[in-house]
Amino acid sequence: MHADFIIRGADIIDGTGAPRRKGDVAVSDDRIVATGDLTHWTAGREIEAKGRVVAPGFIDPHVHHDAALFTHPDMEFMTNQGVTTVINGNCGFSIAPVTRPENLPIQLRMIASDPALNFPTYAAYHKRIADEAPAVNAACLIGQSTLRANAMDDLEQAATAAELTEMCRLLDESLTEGAIGVSTGPFYPPSRASTTEELIELGRTAHKHGKLYVTHMRDEGDRVIEALEETFTVGRESCCGVHVSHHKCAGLANHGLSETTLPMIDAEMKLRNVGLDTTPWVASSTILNSGRHRQAERVIIAESAPHPELAGRDLADVARDWNTDLEGAIERLLPATGIFFIMAEEDVQRIMAYEHTMICSDGMPSGSHPHPRVWGTFPRVLGRYVRDVNLFTLEEAVRRMTSMPADRFGLGGRGRIAVGGFADLVIFDPATIAEGATFENPIQPAHGIDRVFVNGREVFAFGKPTGNRPGRPLNQTAPVQVV
Ligand code: ZN
Ligand code: CU
Repeated sequence: MHADFIIRGADIIDGTGAPRRKGDVAVSDDRIVATGDLTHWTAGREIEAKGRVVAPGFIDPHVHHDAALFTHPDMEFMTNQGVTTVINGNCGFSIAPVTRPENLPIQLRMIASDPALNFPTYAAYHKRIADEAPAVNAACLIGQSTLRANAMDDLEQAATAAELTEMCRLLDESLTEGAIGVSTGPFYPPSRASTTEELIELGRTAHKHGKLYVTHMRDEGDRVIEALEETFTVGRESCCGVHVSHHKCAGLANHGLSETTLPMIDAEMKLRNVGLDTTPWVASSTILNSGRHRQAERVIIAESAPHPELAGRDLADVARDWNTDLEGAIERLLPATGIFFIMAEEDVQRIMAYEHTMICSDGMPSGSHPHPRVWGTFPRVLGRYVRDVNLFTLEEAVRRMTSMPADRFGLGGRGRIAVGGFADLVIFDPATIAEGATFENPIQPAHGIDRVFVNGREVFAFGKPTGNRPGRPLNQTAPVQVV
């Protein structure tokens, strides 16, 4: 028996949550062809991995790398942490379909600063990914704010019946062309002006395709309970599976609220299709004028168009230098993004420890001082929260990053080490794995990641991208599951 390459003597963590076992993994072309004791196999390349773990490549279910697939095709901020598949188009913002570029909300311009990276149809976006091939696989949701910008003249209003019909028609077309669900963002303008009825209609359209409704909820702070209830209403009325993005309880007054929100999610999950993901950080990151500074203990400027030199500075220090208050400073920094310290460590840990929570980075790679989650999320969970805090086993953490998102979003053949599956793999050292990125120094590769493979080709090795770009656009190829 002969394979293209064999990873020898590793601890295999297969992504299902099963205990690790020693063995070899053989890969030919883009597939895993054998696992276990492969002493009698030969290979074109032997990779010694004693003392290392081999796991399925991680799947990041929530990123904003829609345009980065083309502007940063090596996707180093993802491959350095072992991520081999991303899901784009989150929080209501996707760069396809865009038929009226002049009408786009500002957040979309932050995801794709170059208008050439907006696509009139999802099919055109999908084709571009296939043609230009980034280093990682990419699936995509269709954003509500994007749909609104296509269908509406006055984005500050609730959609009229005719506008909503047009939004659903565009969504229906995009889902037929391969998008894997709809994302809504009623927290952000212009989706904030939407009614629950609009959200339900979008859910109905996704449900017709057997796809998910994924949401950055209307509120993650003082009214997070009401926002969860609205999300459940959408699920109930549309019959669509709903997925709560980057679940958090933001703001000092709301610390500890996950003791209430998690049982709510758990109860609803017993009745309907509900899921969630979260990030392993007490700070969030979004547009600087989101109002979050009022609830934050500290704000770091991530990016400012008029003042790029201030990226990485404390907002309060800049306000003091300018003899103004936070509001005044924000005004002068726009358009800008910030990093907001608004969560409690207890909530972060409680949400992550909940058995149905998957891990996401919510990364946006723009600017010189991004949130460290862009580069460091997955190694942080495997280092800090598995090895140091002991929140869950390594096998369980890997499951949250692999088979769980694959099953949730219907990415067949991904997320497991199994014969016949795609050879998306990461080899890492469980004793040293950790994020390199910090709030002070956010663009740093992770520690302890040896090698990363996508569709059987090596994309990252010992701190550097290899230059290979074997990624593919992914469609939903399996039914969506409750996980
Ligand atoms: Zn979001
Ligand atoms: Cu997001």
